[in-house]
Amino acid sequence: MILKTKVNVHSETFKNNFQSMKQKVEELKSTIELAKTGGDQQSQQRQKKRNKYLVRERIEKLADSGTCFLEFSVLAGRGLYKEDLSSAGIVTGIIIVHGRPCVVVANDPMVKGGTYFPITIKKHLRAQEIALENHLPCIYLVDSGGAYLHYQDEVFPDKNHFGRIFYNQARMTAKGIPQISAVLGYCTAGGAYVPAMSDENIIVKGNGTIFLAGPPLVEAATGEKVSAEELGGAVLHSSQSGVSDHVVENEDQALEKVRNIIFHLGSSKKQKLLMRESRKPLYPAEEIYGIVPSDLKTVFDIREIIARLVDGSELHEFKKNYGPTLVTGWAHLCGYPVGILANNGVLFGESALKAAHFIDLCDQRGIPLVFLQNIVGFMVGKQYESGGITKHGAKMVTAVSLARVPKFTIIIGASYGAGNYGMCGRAYQPRQLWMWPSARIAVMGGPQAQKVLRSIKSVASSSNEQEKMRDYGASASFANLEEQYDKQSTAYYSTARLWDDGIIDPLDTRKVLALGLDASLYAPLGEKSKGVYRM
Ligand code: COA
Repeated sequence: MILKTKVNVHSETFKNNFQSMKQKVEELKSTIELAKTGGDQQSQQRQKKRNKYLVRERIEKLADSGTCFLEFSVLAGRGLYKEDLSSAGIVTGIIIVHGRPCVVVANDPMVKGGTYFPITIKKHLRAQEIALENHLPCIYLVDSGGAYLHYQDEVFPDKNHFGRIFYNQARMTAKGIPQISAVLGYCTAGGAYVPAMSDENIIVKGNGTIFLAGPPLVEAATGEKVSAEELGGAVLHSSQSGVSDHVVENEDQALEKVRNIIFHLGSSKKQKLLMRESRKPLYPAEEIYGIVPSDLKTVFDIREIIARLVDGSELHEFKKNYGPTLVTGWAHLCGYPVGILANNGVLFGESALKAAHFIDLCDQRGIPLVFLQNIVGFMVGKQYESGGITKHGAKMVTAVSLARVPKFTIIIGASYGAGNYGMCGRAYQPRQLWMWPSARIAVMGGPQAQKVLRSIKSVASSSNEQEKMRDYGASASFANLEEQYDKQSTAYYSTARLWDDGIIDPLDTRKVLALGLDASLYAPLGEKSKGVYRM
């Protein structure tokens, strides 16, 4: 049961790996710090002059003191636009208010007036999705100029654009998931619906405004001249229009009011797990740095990572000798029971069958799943195709798709091809998905893509299909393809586009998973549709 380590911390390989990961983590930390500073000194002073806190100060004041803020996608939007867009102009995450996890969605008014770029909307919707799946109250700290007008075609008309935010609010409140807004600044146009669609909202006198069109647009449309305060200020909305429920004098009062609302919500956890006392792993977490190879192609025993994540380094392994390229087993993590699936090489038919069986067992028992992804894909070739590897893989994908229990994915190394699907990639709705800084995600590696395209080219040339070739773009130079794949598969590329919920220091993995597990227990499990199928 106790995993015994074979790691030699004095070896050259360990030391080199350690240095390489340490450097990546330091780079990550400084990049995150920079993203968190948001606007320049001037705009920070402007905020203060307006009697406003900076966005992360607001969140800190809202949360119970001494609790963790599990922030999502700090580096979203990085490098996507010509405009500098710190954290996509919106800060989201899970905070604890009166002991209860809540999703917070806070506009950053220092980033282009808190307006919504395409990635801002994606981040807002992702936070709502997390709230919906986990049944967590949503707290919106609103301070936004609405849609960023230069990108209107990418933020307004489509299904997962601005309108979806309000649709989600209506659907969540119908499910009994509280929607609370504090209007701390502008709330213009579509944005006005955030407080209007909330169960309860608060507005700050002097700073908060809610209107469908601001004063310039009103004047342009009707000729009426009116100040922002007269048009949609706190007094109007709390005493005449009835759009707001509580009026307060300043942000401190607004944040305290939100806390009071959460205090009186009254509902509690829907799922009960048999918790054990939390115990530290037997081996130091820092050793993870030296275990993860700097070259992703190098195979290593994933049990060495599990031994540094789970309580007491204890793993009750399932089918240890069958399909050994996937390690499956039960463990506790900070006291929470979990079922772990972790890659230990390429996926074979047997490993896929074992995964499907194990997932069914965990689902039957209501035990959350943790996927540790380091996968280059399923085994390919005639022998494996004739053995039905595709149908075995499909069973794994089906089990992952249908599991009702909360799923969590950590991409610790490679995440390529169909291996990403079977191991609960983004499309399979893990409650949260995090990456380590050295992780890579792509349909395949650059050199492989290059070989595939070259071979298509040679087949096409030999069969005189030159025209078809041009469609594939294979006549173009392949020289840049490897470079392109290299750039597009990094954790930074992924996180900028919100393919994950953030990049984390491997040493924070236990904490991040524990916070996610705790938050996941507020949603009920659906009805199970079938028993355990032996594979
Ligand atoms: N679309 C595009 N750019 C916008 C914008 C919008 N909706 N709202 C603000 N911006 C830009 C400003 O042009 C400015 O750009 P710059 O930094 O390149 O100069 C930046 O965001 C900050 O705006 P600024 O007005 O300087 O900040 P502020 O804190 O004083 O005011 C707002 C912020 C949001 C209250 C104010 O800009 C505003 O009223 N914007 C228009 C809101 C609107 O009518 N939205 C309709 C959306 S459907």
